[in-house]
Amino acid sequence: MNNNVAENMRSAFGGESQARMRYQIWGEIAKKDGFPVVETVFNAISYAESIHAKSHFNVIKDVKGDFEVSSMAGFGIGSTSENLKAAADGEKWEVTVMYPEFLENAESADEKKAVNSIKWAMAAEQTHEKMYLEAKSFVDQGKDAEFSNIHICEVCGYAAHGDMLDSCPICNVKSDKFRIF
Ligand SMILES: [Fe+2]
Ligand SMILES: [Fe+2]
Repeated sequence: MNNNVAENMRSAFGGESQARMRYQIWGEIAKKDGFPVVETVFNAISYAESIHAKSHFNVIKDVKGDFEVSSMAGFGIGSTSENLKAAADGEKWEVTVMYPEFLENAESADEKKAVNSIKWAMAAEQTHEKMYLEAKSFVDQGKDAEFSNIHICEVCGYAAHGDMLDSCPICNVKSDKFRIF
């Protein structure tokens, strides 16, 4: 396994793991602020980040040992609107800065498993950003998000709400692999 790619995967694992926890915390704030559907959005996407973390971890399963890991991660607790904005910004940064760089490294090192793990995560993060911004537009009108049937693809972390597609637009699995929140 290429060292640089392994380091990137550890960094992405760290970032996804922290996002998983951070979204749970922000979900608790949403609940306290009176937005239970937004809490569900945070919890659903938190679950999606765990799928990315596991996928990245699996790519580097043969690189054993202890490592110091550096990852960009957001901190702080604001209002639910601010937390949704910070969440959307974090997703956008992953899609536009972090993953493109990691993808380029993985492609040039011909690390196919890393390439796939990164591509799926990168595509799923775009659906996360979209849902956070949509939720924020409700909260900014003083309303809870009017979403039903929030679902996450258990394979790639794709997030959507409302009617389900027959299969995942990112990884193609059938919708029986979607977890509903
Ligand atoms: Fe995400
Ligand atoms: Fe998927």
